[in-house]
Amino acid sequence: MTRPSELQALFEAAERAIRHSAGGSAAAKAAAVTVFDRLRAQQGAVSAVPPVVLPVCDHLDAALSQAHATRRDVAAALQALAPALVWTRRRSARPEDAAFWDGHANAMLAGPGGLEARDDLWLGITVMAPGVTYHDHSHPPEETYLALTPGQWWNTAMDWTDPGADGLIHNPSGITHAMRATAERPFLALWVLPV
Ligand SMILES: [Fe+2]
Repeated sequence: MTRPSELQALFEAAERAIRHSAGGSAAAKAAAVTVFDRLRAQQGAVSAVPPVVLPVCDHLDAALSQAHATRRDVAAALQALAPALVWTRRRSARPEDAAFWDGHANAMLAGPGGLEARDDLWLGITVMAPGVTYHDHSHPPEETYLALTPGQWWNTAMDWTDPGADGLIHNPSGITHAMRATAERPFLALWVLPV
């Protein structure tokens, strides 16, 4: 396996945090374990895309340093990967909505266009500035979120919920969902989707 050690370390830390999540549902863990099993079984091409930084990345260090104690290993692994990340905005974002345009970004770690190119899974992170809400969206794959900081998630079957330091969020296949930062602190979460 020639996967870069920083990326492998992040995958291992994320899998440990999800498997050990005391409050995470069986469905949330099962979806994530499918992804980690696929990462173990096979390796995709390493990206040659140069790093991209967006305005909201100014919040990344604060988010990482304030990560839940249960997820410090994940934050440390992300810190090591940070210089390589290729940050993008959601395709539906518009500059007229400056709060969202400058207040959110996603980075794909493994998946289409990711640091590791894969078409069988998506694994990435979202950072948001305090007070920002990520637009309602949906996608065919089910999804597990690992919150590194406080924040709230919503879907059509669940009221706004902060999963806390020990929980996970699971979005069933195709459900409309959203998430938002608290007013005071930047938001950072990792998402894992078997495709
Ligand atoms: Fe999603």
